[in-house]
Amino acid sequence: MQFKNLLIESSEGITILTINRPQVLNALNSDVVRELESALYELNLDAAVKAIVLTGAGEKAFVAGADIKEMAEMSAFEAHDFACRGQRLMLLINRMRKPVIAAVNGYALGGGLELALACDFIYASENARFGFPEVGLGVIPGFGGTQNMARLIGPNRAKELVLSGRIITAAKAHAWGIVNELCAPEELLSKVLVTVHEIVGKGALGVAYAKDAIANGLNMTKEDGFRYEASLFGVLFATGDQREGMGAFLQKRTAEFKGK
Ligand code: CAA
Repeated sequence: MQFKNLLIESSEGITILTINRPQVLNALNSDVVRELESALYELNLDAAVKAIVLTGAGEKAFVAGADIKEMAEMSAFEAHDFACRGQRLMLLINRMRKPVIAAVNGYALGGGLELALACDFIYASENARFGFPEVGLGVIPGFGGTQNMARLIGPNRAKELVLSGRIITAAKAHAWGIVNELCAPEELLSKVLVTVHEIVGKGALGVAYAKDAIANGLNMTKEDGFRYEASLFGVLFATGDQREGMGAFLQKRTAEFKGK
């Protein structure tokens, strides 16, 4: 896969996907949104890929938001369409069978924070900064931020963040539950990779179904979520991964999962 604005490196089942427009702090224009959608779609279908790490090029930013230069010229129709395409990308990440982990290496603002929130979880460098500056531009978050942030940290903290447009430190984002782990900047990628290696060593079908159960269960009543979880649990007993995982435990050896 060749892209103008993305770098893709894969090794040992893990793909590092880097948004590469450092001259504009990796701002998301229509081209980047389109390229991300098509890269992630392909990576989801590629059996050799077990997990994806999403990050930004350069030392300063993960993604400093949607591209303001491009948005400034949009009509209402074009802005609505842009938001729908951004949201489609976020939903694709949500629905992917493989885990997608955000390594936030600097500013994650507006659409950049929305992109990180769409990932399964976020590790961040201590110098990262988070916020929704949209109200300062006369608009609101448009790539799912009002919905995903309120679900993650609750409506009151989400409203403080979105209504003030304030930029918060990585430490505060960690304290509020936006970030799972804070890392020294030079250790960010290696720490993410330790966790991702742990995940890809497990049964890929179990990982995919667990992601599915958590993501979809959040949109259900608890009882419906329980029923959904039980169905997925049962289906996994028709897989080689279940036989291998339990068989390996009983035989006191390391499981060798095939994702089948
Ligand atoms: N869009 C387009 N260009 C951007 C950008 C963005 N979101 N963020 C930064 N850039 C560009 C700057 O214009 C600048 O380009 P030039 O060198 O050509 O002037 C370059 O990146 C470097 O940025 P700064 O000189 O501004 O760097 P700084 O260190 O002084 O400030 C910053 C860093 C605080 C992140 C500042 O760049 C900033 O405030 N950026 C905009 C953040 C923002 O408002 N994001 C939300 C966008 S709206 C959105 O995302 C809507 C949505 O939900 C879909």
